Amino acid sequence: MKKVTCTAPVNIAVVKYWGKRNEDLILPINSSLSVTLHQDQLKTTTSIAASRDFTEDRIWLNGKEDDINHPRLQSCLREIRRLARKRRSSGSEDVSGILNYKVHICSINNFPTAAGLASSAAGYACLVYSLAKLYGVEGELSEIARQGSGSACRSMYGGFVQWLMGEREDGKDSLAQQVEAETHWPELRILILVASAEKKHVGSTAGMQTSVETSPLLKLRAESVVPGRMAEMIESIKKKDFESFGQLTMKDSNQFHATCLDTFPPIFYLNQVSQRIISLVHRYNAHYGQTKVAYSFDAGPNAVIFTLEPTVNEFVEVVKRSFPPASNGDPFIKGLPVSPAPLS
Ligand code: PMV
Repeated sequence: MKKVTCTAPVNIAVVKYWGKRNEDLILPINSSLSVTLHQDQLKTTTSIAASRDFTEDRIWLNGKEDDINHPRLQSCLREIRRLARKRRSSGSEDVSGILNYKVHICSINNFPTAAGLASSAAGYACLVYSLAKLYGVEGELSEIARQGSGSACRSMYGGFVQWLMGEREDGKDSLAQQVEAETHWPELRILILVASAEKKHVGSTAGMQTSVETSPLLKLRAESVVPGRMAEMIESIKKKDFESFGQLTMKDSNQFHATCLDTFPPIFYLNQVSQRIISLVHRYNAHYGQTKVAYSFDAGPNAVIFTLEPTVNEFVEVVKRSFPPASNGDPFIKGLPVSPAPLS
């Protein structure tokens, strides 16, 4: 038997990916850019064992057996095994003969799954990386992670990462690329405000599909807004210009949710708590006359707050005051824990 265990962190997009031009290969209609969290924060841990005693491939997610025949899971398994076979035929030996063995995969998230906190990004990045380690496959793996879940390709790198949409029909140029390393902007901090840990009602796959079919705003965004925004975002990161980084982040999150509303029937990911957080951030920034904090929301109501180290304590106090402790003495209102997630 051979066994490997790996962890992969969540990434939070500041220029959002929404919409595919090819469903099978997961090729996006626009490029996107994200910040990968620190490994000690929100993460997936995956263990994979390969043994001659196993009679079939199996997978457990958060302790419950799941469907190994899910097409995207199968794509990742097939692609990594194909690379491993290629490697073997080019002379590298398959030391333990594990390519002929079945695998058992066990994957655990340390945060709510499918609640709009990029669980599939960390999950598929971790799966692909662990499989590659198991079979001794090296090199560019973001193309394979992308075929599990689009945003997963960005979790293959730390720091600031762009996913280039690419032009080719076979997806060979639709890859993730590090823009700056995790050490680049040490003062940057990320807070997660959990407005609801419930599973989202419309998954990203179904949501994107309806948006591509029905939203004229999404087409306009992909063609006319995102290319310029990617360039501006990269510049603001390189210059560590929080004013510009924060504004672009909020505008992009707002436009993504506007395309959801422009989808027919409309998709609502934000709830009343999310809306209160948005107003709070704008009031806080208006008080200082500058962008001190910025919000971003994915396909769910939970807020991701970007800020710089000196602002963290004060903003957390402001959040606590706006969402007072529950009467049972819990430090935070029920359902709204605040967890500072330093990026280093
Ligand atoms: O990779 P998916 O299918 O989970 O889609 C992710 C979509 C967003 O999280 C809303 C945006 C993004 O770029 O991560």
